[in-house]
Amino acid sequence: MSKKRVLSGIQPSGRLHIGNLVGALQNWVRLQDTYECYYFIADWHALTSQYADTSQLKDNVKDVLVNCLAAGLDPERATIFAQSRVVEHAELHVLLSMVTPLTWLERVPTYKEKQTEVKDKDLNTYGFLGYPLLQSADILIYRANYVPVGVDQMPHLEITREIGRRFNNFYGEVFPEPEGLLTEFPKVVGTDGRKMSKTYGNCIYLSDTPKEVEQKVRTMTTDPHRIKRTDKGDPELSPVYQLHNIFSSKEEIEEVAAGCRTAGIGCIDCKKVLIRNLLSVMEPIWEKRRHFLGKPDLLEDILSSGSHKARQAAIETMLMARKAMGLGSIT
Ligand code: TRP
Repeated sequence: MSKKRVLSGIQPSGRLHIGNLVGALQNWVRLQDTYECYYFIADWHALTSQYADTSQLKDNVKDVLVNCLAAGLDPERATIFAQSRVVEHAELHVLLSMVTPLTWLERVPTYKEKQTEVKDKDLNTYGFLGYPLLQSADILIYRANYVPVGVDQMPHLEITREIGRRFNNFYGEVFPEPEGLLTEFPKVVGTDGRKMSKTYGNCIYLSDTPKEVEQKVRTMTTDPHRIKRTDKGDPELSPVYQLHNIFSSKEEIEEVAAGCRTAGIGCIDCKKVLIRNLLSVMEPIWEKRRHFLGKPDLLEDILSSGSHKARQAAIETMLMARKAMGLGSIT
């Protein structure tokens, strides 16, 4: 029996942080043997909001690729590619746009949210409205069965299913219904207790140095009611504890929680344990980052052969989609 297909993408909109690592990349790595995996860098999606200044785009694509490889994605086992190098995504986007009611796009929650949230860019563009439809094309063109994403992407998956269904209703079964694979750690807190996000400036980046990681953890907020070392704390109120829950062993988690509740340990002691564990997770990633950053030709090879492979799969679907729609050969 052939393996089910998994497809997921990540935007090259800046440096990746440990939230991306545990929320997406590590999950992608786990899936690579069980499924036929396609993972891509969504450079066109980055353009939907960052079209005005593309000077960083290339570097960001490179950095995402390096991080994917450093996190353990293996080009021998998964197909890793760039969206813009598989031009068939754009063709399917055009075909799908014919059957997509405007209201479906306008009511996607991320559309209005982002438009009001993002003040420094003009997102009144055709491309930005079409963001979820481009994502639908990304998914449907591989006839993917599963899409590992965070909860925030569920509306995009929903519209993908609706559009696939609508296409199938008009032209015959081409697209299977993709299902979301919710990631195990959908939310990682940042150094200030809010969701880890570039826009909040509370991230621990994969490109940080050990010193920066240490400094960031040392200045993290903890239980705000625990002011003096002798005050008893509530670990549940501490973002440091939330990171322990992800990066520390069961014993360590129990130990720091008990130490916090009884004032047996101070916040610095607790942070030291977290720093040690973060460094040991990040050290092998840093080493691989150094390795790949020193080999730009290898990176280009990986991206171009991955994109070539992805294209073969995309071309196959396009033959079916064109035929179903009455395009293609007139004989
Ligand atoms: N919108 C996704 C994000 O911001 C990135 C993405 C683009 C994607 N196309 C996709 C994810 C297709 C999964 C499948 O995270």
